[in-house]
Amino acid sequence: MAGLFVTFEGIDRSGKTTQARMLVEALGDEAVAVREPGGTEVGERLRDLLKDPAVTISAEAEALMFAAARAELVAQVIRPALDAGKVVVSDRFLDSSLAYQGIARALGVEDVEQINSFATRGLLPDLTFLLSIDPARAAERAGQLDRFEDEGDSLQKAVFDAYRDLAAADSGRWVTVDADRPSGEVHDEVMRAVQRAREAAGTRA
Ligand code: TYD
Repeated sequence: MAGLFVTFEGIDRSGKTTQARMLVEALGDEAVAVREPGGTEVGERLRDLLKDPAVTISAEAEALMFAAARAELVAQVIRPALDAGKVVVSDRFLDSSLAYQGIARALGVEDVEQINSFATRGLLPDLTFLLSIDPARAAERAGQLDRFEDEGDSLQKAVFDAYRDLAAADSGRWVTVDADRPSGEVHDEVMRAVQRAREAAGTRA
């Protein structure tokens, strides 16, 4: 039985991490939680480098490092879990690279898609949540700054616009959720969409 691959996307402080955790808790043993970049030994080391404000990285190298971390995660964790019939819940996946590196960093969506399709061997999520919140509202939420957030509002605004365009281009896979609400309300909407996706997957199987 093939599993279900669910990803959460959004700008920094949109609440993805909280929502991914709430979904995993609700699903219990059926769920496998992963986060990007990270989740493997290579991925966690790349994560430290990628987030370090003291490290300067070219946009091209940055895209390749995210793709390398993703390749490890797909091969070691995501594919085996899906093959075992699990629901894999990922806090970010390839759409983060399309939005941050492809669009906001202007590397081009096509090039970034190409290196990622190599990295993931073509694996795409079944369902992707866009946690939509105005960048100015998200910035009011507490949290530590990393290399990306250090860059300030213009990057977050560019990423926000990028996600909106990506979601509009593939409405079959994306579900846009208003994230400027209490987390319990957002979670209820997430659960309904996951339920629908599982029913649809069940009918396909
Ligand atoms: P994230 O784990 O969401 O940060 P935090 O744990 O602080 O919430 O992601 C770290 C940063 O990496 C975030 O600003 C988005 C960025 N990122 C990319 O630019 N491209 C990618 O492919 C991924 C996965 C993340």
